[in-house]
Amino acid sequence: MLSHTQLSPAPAAVQVTVRPARITDLPTLVELLCQLFSIETDFEVRPTRHARGLRLLLGAVRRGSAYVAVAESRGEVVGMATVQTVVSTAEGAPSGWIEDVVVREDLRGTGIGTMLMADVAHWARANNLARLQLLADRRNRLALAFYDRLAFQPTNMICLRARCPGRSQPVSPGRGQGRVR
Ligand SMILES: CC(C)(COP(=O)(O)OP(=O)(O)OC[C@H]1O[C@@H](n2cnc3c(N)ncnc32)[C@H](O)[C@@H]1OP(=O)(O)O)[C@@H](O)C(=O)NCCC(=O)NCCS
Repeated sequence: MLSHTQLSPAPAAVQVTVRPARITDLPTLVELLCQLFSIETDFEVRPTRHARGLRLLLGAVRRGSAYVAVAESRGEVVGMATVQTVVSTAEGAPSGWIEDVVVREDLRGTGIGTMLMADVAHWARANNLARLQLLADRRNRLALAFYDRLAFQPTNMICLRARCPGRSQPVSPGRGQGRVR
């Protein structure tokens, strides 16, 4: 986990710090994810699941395989971005999946998303990740413009997904971890 914080250069009216997430941020992070999943129609707004997912992610942060960046302004969490490592056999190195990139609606377009992505990129460099990748809704033109400015290039891959057999509910934190049979 990075211990550095980043202060926003602009705008003058909004001073923003980017820092690692804490467990006490969880309720606000769930609200931000609800905003995000209300835009991304591939997903449903399910606050209980989002909270469970965030706890799983914070567990991965403790194990060193993930990072959750939050932006704070005037003592409130106003944005977030997450990254998790996977092994890329193509790269022969770990790479990072970025997810959960969202800024509170009234503060969008003020540079906070860019700060969050810079913090995630800093963590990726510090952890020797070969590349960063993410999924974006093809209809989310503002987000695509945002990633384009950050030099993320579209690829020829498409995302396919299926539910794991017999898995109607998501895994609870702690279950299925630690013991291999
Ligand atoms: C996409 C998002 C994270 C970008 O963060 P941000 O703080 O608004 O972005 P920044 O201010 O750092 O960068 C601004 C650039 O992002 C783009 N942008 C995306 N959404 C924008 C918005 N609502 N208002 C202004 N610019 C936006 C523009 O390209 C802009 O560049 P420009 O100033 O040259 O026009 C944020 O707008 C957001 O939370 N959107 C809704 C959730 C979402 O779509 N998340 C991405 C999921 S893949």
